[in-house]
Amino acid sequence: MQPHLKRAFTILALIIIAFIFVRSLVVPESFGQYGWYRGDSVKEIRNLTVNYRGSASCGEENCHENIYTVWAKDRHKTVNCETCHGPAQKHVLDAREPLMPANDSRDYCGKCHFKRISRPEAFPQIDPGAHGEDLRCVYCHNPHKPWFD
Ligand code: HEC
Ligand code: HEC
Ligand code: HEC
Repeated sequence: MQPHLKRAFTILALIIIAFIFVRSLVVPESFGQYGWYRGDSVKEIRNLTVNYRGSASCGEENCHENIYTVWAKDRHKTVNCETCHGPAQKHVLDAREPLMPANDSRDYCGKCHFKRISRPEAFPQIDPGAHGEDLRCVYCHNPHKPWFD
């Protein structure tokens, strides 16, 4: 074999060996156990704390039945309790665990309802400067039944 080819093959072989060596150091042991990801990550994700409990747990089986029934029939039925009230898993498991009060600022409702050019036109939006006289939105709108009919 010509010397320059020999050199080229030697370098290639060294690169391959170096690659295999480095790979064996950096690839986590459980990689590939189930597929193209770390097998251990399944365990880790399973052990994450669950913070949300779902709207049904507030009403259907539990304590806030009245609010739940009103909410479930009205326009905010697609906005879950925990969207406004925050994660409630602990509170559902133990009612003595206090829940932070819901954010009742104008800006919070505005996250969804202030007029934005990027929002679908059919979505109910208001101009914050011209609507509701700077009062908190819940002064006039019941957050669980925001429309007046
Ligand atoms: C759009 C946001 C929003 C959603 C969705 C929402 N809430 Fe509320 N909730 C509020 C706000 C704001 C207050 C405080 C009202 C006030 O200050 O008049 C409140 C107050 C309450 C209160 C205490 C006062 C009261 O009226 O008895 C309870 C209990 C409650 N919510 C339960 C629920 C439950 C259960 C759900 C889901 C079925 C829910 N909320 C969904 C915003 C929301
Ligand atoms: C996470 C987004 C979100 C937040 C936060 C939110 N809303 Fe809504 N709101 C909605 C959706 C979704 C609807 C239903 C829209 C539809 O039917 O097309 C709605 C409907 C309404 C309607 C009925 C409007 C109509 O013409 O039908 C009013 C009024 C309203 N919300 C007021 C409020 C107030 C007051 C707050 C704060 C306490 C609030 N919203 C917070 C998403 C939100
Ligand atoms: C002083 C009372 C009052 C306050 C405060 C108030 N609203 Fe209203 N809102 C109304 C009335 C009355 C209507 C129905 C007539 C109208 O469209 O003006 C309405 C309508 C709406 C609608 C439906 C608009 C549409 O075109 O479908 C939305 C959304 C809404 N309000 C959200 C809010 C939000 C968000 C806040 C707080 C930033 C708020 N409102 C504060 C009285 C109020």
